[in-house]
This record gives sequence, C-alpha cells and structure tokens, in this order.
Amino acid sequence: MDDKTILIADDDKAIRTVLSRALSKEGYNVRVSSNATALWEWVSNGEGDLVITDVMMPDENGLDMLLRIKNIRPDLPVIVMSAQNTLMTAVKATERGAYEYLPKPFDLDELRQVIKKGLSPKNKNNLVQNKNEDEEMPLIGRSLAMQDVFRVMARLMNTDLTVMIAGETGTGKELVARALHDFGKRKNAPFVAINMAAIPKELIESELFGHEKGSFTGAVTKKAGRFEQARGGTLFLDEIGDMPMDAQTRLLRVLQEGEFISVGGSVPIKVDVRIIAATHRNLKQLISQGLFREDLYYRLNVVPINVPPLRERRDDIPDLVRHFFNNYGEDNNQVSKLLDPKAMNFLSNYKWPGNIRELENFIQRLAALYTEEVISFEDVCNELTNNSVLNIKNTEDENENSPLNETLQQSIHRHLKNYFDAHPGEELPSNGLYGRILSELEKPLIELCLEATKGNQIKAAELLGLNRNTLRKKIKELEIPVIKKRF
Ligand SMILES: Nc1ncnc2c1ncn2[C@@H]1O[C@H](COP(=O)(O)OP(=O)(O)OP(=O)(O)O)[C@@H](O)[C@H]1O
Ligand SMILES: [Mg+2]
Repeated sequence: MDDKTILIADDDKAIRTVLSRALSKEGYNVRVSSNATALWEWVSNGEGDLVITDVMMPDENGLDMLLRIKNIRPDLPVIVMSAQNTLMTAVKATERGAYEYLPKPFDLDELRQVIKKGLSPKNKNNLVQNKNEDEEMPLIGRSLAMQDVFRVMARLMNTDLTVMIAGETGTGKELVARALHDFGKRKNAPFVAINMAAIPKELIESELFGHEKGSFTGAVTKKAGRFEQARGGTLFLDEIGDMPMDAQTRLLRVLQEGEFISVGGSVPIKVDVRIIAATHRNLKQLISQGLFREDLYYRLNVVPINVPPLRERRDDIPDLVRHFFNNYGEDNNQVSKLLDPKAMNFLSNYKWPGNIRELENFIQRLAALYTEEVISFEDVCNELTNNSVLNIKNTEDENENSPLNETLQQSIHRHLKNYFDAHPGEELPSNGLYGRILSELEKPLIELCLEATKGNQIKAAELLGLNRNTLRKKIKELEIPVIKKRF
C-alpha cells in the first residue's frame, strides 16, 4: 500500500487497538495517540497522509483541532469520528473541512473505503468555511437511522442540489428542509414554503409564479409568486404529490429553463432558487397511476432523503420526550415534567403511527393534563388507551361481545383526528377530500384488522369485506409488515 501513514487519535483504547490492527493489516503505517497533543505534533511536523480523530478527547476537542489542522495542511484528509451524534457535530465537522464524518459505532468496511478514497490522488479537500457556531440545531436524532440522514444533510448544506424528502406523515420532513436552508449558504435569503395540498388547485400556478393584474377574475392587483419571493433562497414544495398535472408540467419547464412567466404575463423572469420538495406519498405509485410526471420526479429527486418513521428509530424517543417536555415547560413557564422509567420504556415501544408529531401532541397533552412533576406509567397508559389503537390488544377473544367494532370506530375517529391535527391550520382542500382521507385511512385500517385477527389474512379480509387477493395486494402495495400467524 505504497507506505501511506495514517494518524489516529482517540482516547478510547479499544478503538485505537481495533483500528490500528485493521489498518496495519491493510498495509498502512499506523500511528496512534490517546490525545490531541501528540496528533497535533505529528501533523505540524508534516507527518501523516490521513488523519482519523475522535471529537471528545481529554486535552482538546477534535473539531477545534480539525480547524487548526486545516489551517496548516488544508490538503490533509481528516476523518472525524464521534459518539456525540448530533447534527451539529456532523455539520461542524463538514464545515471545518473534515473529509468524512463517521458517527460511532461505525462499520470497519465503510472506514476502509473512506480511507481509500481519501488517499486517492483525485481527492481535493474542500475549502474550510467558518460559520456561526452557536446556532441551535433543532433536529434530535441519536439513532443510527437519523445519523444517516444527518450525514447526507451535512454534505448537502452548502450545495444548490435539488433535494426530495420522503417520509411518513409527521416524521419531520419540513424540519429537515428548514435545517438544510438555515444552516446552508442561503441562510440569509428567504425560505419560502408552499403546501400543494393546502392550496386550491386552480390557484397553484398563480401562487407559484405570480400573476398580472386582471389576468383572471379575482386578480385585482399584480402579485409576485413564491418563486420570486424565494429569490436567492430556498423554495420548499411541500406535499409535491398533490400537485395538479398542469402545474407539474409548468414546474418542470421552469426547472429546465431556469425562468418562468407569471400568469397573464409575457416577460420571462429569471430567479436563482434552490428547490427542496417533500411528500408523504409514494410517488412511484402515483407515477404508475398517471398522477405524477415521471420526468418531474427525476428532476426533483436529484438527492433523495428518506426520513425514517419513528418506530424505526426508537432510540430517539427518550430525547424527543425530554425535548417536548422542556419546550412545553418553557412556553408555559413551568418546570419541565418527567416520565418514570417504566412509562418512558412503554412509550419507546409504542408504534407511533403519526410519528414525531403524534408523540409531540401526546407529550403536550400529558404536560397540560397531569399536575405531578413525574408522570407515571399508569397515567401514560390511561392517556394512551383513552383513544388508541392499543385498545385492539384487549380484544383477544373474538366472542359475540367483542368490542372490536366499537374499537375500530374509535380508532378510525382517532385517525381522522390525527389527519386533521397533522395538517393544522390548513384550509380544507377545495376538492378531493374524500379520496385523500380514505387513502390516509386505508393503511391504518388494514393494520388494525390484521392486528385484531392476529395476522390472519383470511379473517382480516372478511372483517374488511375485501377479497383475499385484494387484501394481499394492498398489504404489499402499502408495505404493511405481515405478522406471523400464531395458533
Ligand atoms: N428530529 C426532530 N427533533 C425534534 N423535533 C422534531 C423532529 N422531527 C420532527 N419534529 C417535530 O415534529 C413535528 C412534525 O414535524 P414536521 O412538520 O417537520 O413533519 P412532516 O414530516 O413535515 O409532517 P407532514 O407529513 O405531516 O407534513 C414538528 O413539530 C417538528 O418540530
Ligand atoms: Mg410537512
């Protein structure tokens, strides 16, 4: 391996041993140190071809040292590892010129590849950019699933690439979009959001592109569209799956040509806008149904970010619970409440079909309704089972008196309520409400019936009044996990 030397600093002996063994085996010269001082000495003496450093070290923060390294040896690739898995660490590391940021625990194979790429002659390090360091990062996410999201975000912050954020309702898509703007190079320009599902179909084009006075009934004055309002900044196209076809065609043209003409106007307007789109719907499915343009999809989906559902990142739940209790406490001038460990554990294992938004609403309800400082498991159960899918679990015996129907009804009400909670302050869409709500309810309804029948698809199909094959198709289409039959 033509004698490349890798310098490693980490105060964790186990990590030093593992890395030094694995990398020596690959043929690299390896030097390890338990602190920043020794590493700094090597680097300032001009030694080493690549650095791997931890963030938390006894004598100096690895991120501060990174700045100093980049000042004297801007071309030296530095890989930053950290167990302090906040988006801020990822962003800071990238901003300060780290070649790569690796949240701990990481995969050795991944590290090997990163090293190989870092040492290849093609690699030119980015210039260091100093940024305001003290802004608070709003996104919580120590889970591995969110760490992956943060890593992609950190790389995208200072680019103009078009981003498509996908994720179930309430997973934090809008927050991700805002963070990409607020911590990127366009942060001093406007962030303008437009929700396709909230605007009457016939007004979408004039909202996006503006209109001339008198161009249609109701256009009493000339008005700038969101594209123009977002000049120099970011335009967030939320619920892009709900965009009508005509508007899609027009948007595609704008993205291709970089300019547009307002409704009723004749002069093309050029604006520099970064596009971030989001959707909770399956766009591939919409494409196959002829409801979304495939070419627009590829234009928008330059870099996809999938925000995972909360049930796939349960490690984040305790942090989120504390965060929402703190927020409530601050907003209402009271001490932040706490959960007893059993209650926390219970919430960490709950399904959260409405994701973070549902958790947030739930914590707010607890904080408002319960007076004790520490909220107990019983309180939590009480509150949760008052109107929850969990009820279904109590309907084990399927005898005549089974409250299943009643429970289903309650659950459907809850999902309806969730739907409206999840789209707060929105005006009702001018049409399509029937289809939209039914499509939102389809998945939870099938899940409920499967849960109630302990995964027995024949019984669930009967309960739903659906053909068995139709149910099977739906399960696949909606990606509903199949429970193993228990006899
Ligand atoms: N990682 C996170 N850390 C802290 N709060 C979060 C996080 N993700 C989401 N939230 C909070 O959860 C709520 C829902 O987030 P957001 O509106 O971004 O979700 P969404 O995916 O856009 O939902 P929808 O599909 O319903 O539009 C917001 O109040 C947001 O502040
Ligand atoms: Mg949203």
